[in-house]
Amino acid sequence: MEVVIVATPADTGRVVADAVQQAVAAGARVLGLATGSSPLAAYRELARRHRKEGLSLAGLDAFLLDEYVGLPAGHPQSYARVIRAEFVDSVDLDPARVQGPDGTAGDLLAEARRYDAAIRAAGPVDLQILGIGGNGHVGFNEPGSSLTSRTRVKTLTEATRRDNARFFGDVSDVPRHVITQGLGTIGDARHLVLTASGAHKATALAAAIEGPVSASCPASVLQLHPHVTVVADEAAATRLRSAGHYRYAFAHKLSQQGY
Ligand code: F6R
Repeated sequence: MEVVIVATPADTGRVVADAVQQAVAAGARVLGLATGSSPLAAYRELARRHRKEGLSLAGLDAFLLDEYVGLPAGHPQSYARVIRAEFVDSVDLDPARVQGPDGTAGDLLAEARRYDAAIRAAGPVDLQILGIGGNGHVGFNEPGSSLTSRTRVKTLTEATRRDNARFFGDVSDVPRHVITQGLGTIGDARHLVLTASGAHKATALAAAIEGPVSASCPASVLQLHPHVTVVADEAAATRLRSAGHYRYAFAHKLSQQGY
């Protein structure tokens, strides 16, 4: 695992964009996209490079991590809509090749299995962008999630519903259920890039990187993956015991070591 500590949220965006650009240059075919606030700086930077520097994501497939259950089609907070507005419409990804689970499916359990199979068929995901919840969730794998889980229906914690109320207006409007890629599904990706900004992520990030591997902190499963890059701003990195070493290793990276 490489931990890259940078000054600001905008800097996290540049590092994540570098990792994506490097993967694309190396022939990546499939991207994994997170929603929420964490990846927005990276999406803005990738859009800028597309506009100004000719970066192209044409021909790639992309898969979302998760979707709320029961939001009506076209609801502005459905993750399918959010990713279009925040990213896909600003680059040359083909919207028809950006897939997410259908949270309005009649048989949600079957839809979760179908989505997992679709990722397997198109995959592996070459680079998966991740955020982390204040309680250590990745995707919507809340504490207690099996570390080998596949895509399935999960119930959000009240803490996550309160966190995400800022997107909805009122906590009562935040759905209780989601379809989320499982931790095992996420772990099938070749390269996991987790980005975190802000002091409210510091405790969860330290538990994920330096705590025990435990279902109580789902993001700690990243410690078992062979290729992980964590990109944190200073505020999110304040509780990392080995921050000094992470900075030292990054400053002395060999030229042939990419992300
Ligand atoms: C979103 C997702 C979640 C978020 C996490 C952090 O697709 O899977 O795990 O990454 O809840 O959310 P933000 O980035 O809004 O703080």
